[in-house]
Amino acid sequence: MTAQRIDGNALAQKIRTEVAGRTAALKARGIAPRLAVVLVGDDPASQVYVKHKVNDSQQTGLEATLERYPASMAEAELLARIDALNNDPLVHGILVQLPLPRHMDSHKVIEAIAPAKDVDGFHVASAGALMVGQPGFWPCTPHGCMKMIESIGYDLRGKHAVVIGRSNIVGKPMALMLLQQNATVTICHSATADLKAMTLQADVIVAAVGKRNVLTADMVKPGAVVIDVGMNRNDEGKLCGDVDFDGVSQVAGWITPVPGGVGPMTRAMLLVNTITAAENASR
Ligand code: GUN
Repeated sequence: MTAQRIDGNALAQKIRTEVAGRTAALKARGIAPRLAVVLVGDDPASQVYVKHKVNDSQQTGLEATLERYPASMAEAELLARIDALNNDPLVHGILVQLPLPRHMDSHKVIEAIAPAKDVDGFHVASAGALMVGQPGFWPCTPHGCMKMIESIGYDLRGKHAVVIGRSNIVGKPMALMLLQQNATVTICHSATADLKAMTLQADVIVAAVGKRNVLTADMVKPGAVVIDVGMNRNDEGKLCGDVDFDGVSQVAGWITPVPGGVGPMTRAMLLVNTITAAENASR
């Protein structure tokens, strides 16, 4: 069997077009949806990420501002800045790029963001809302994964989904989203005794570890849906995921590539959360 590819670029483009339509509708009512991106320090990867976020927003018609601060910024100063953004009615979404400099408490900083503007979905109020099935912002990466599964018309009810990775940003919210769609969910992690025994039972596998070749062909049931959240570099410096793409493609029914899979979907879901925040504020 050769797996069908789920094209994250194409799906993200479709979502951006929808967001552009919703943005135009708000602008026609005199509301300019706005995302504030805050970057502290000069981490090279973060600089690239925030540039993408601002460009994506602007291309969709959303207003986006990037605020850059030196790594020496005091935590209290950042908290004061977040407070000002919380109280600015012209700002609908706030994103503080992580990681923050070591002298700052990331948890405290994220908790300072008003949940109504928490477009990353990292606030405990957002996590709690997802947990109990109440409305709130979902973290962009797992939400993008769900959209990819939805895009192939796959019914998760009664299926066994195995999530590899238990981070607060991907693994845990991913498991809750799959559960909400009535999948039977297993979360595997570094202490899982026999990963292969778990993944061989899975109808859906989400790999979110951050390590190459975590999932190989011998670990996958024929026809399974495989979602690769990993972003790694191989020995030649080429971008690759957590999944051995060539091998697993011979066994799986569906697979997401890296690059061109989950990455563009994560970026697209940030735009969805931002326009949703603006729509919520305008009601
Ligand atoms: N750093 C790496 N990924 C992310 C993300 O999705 N949001 C934020 N705020 N920081 C990040």
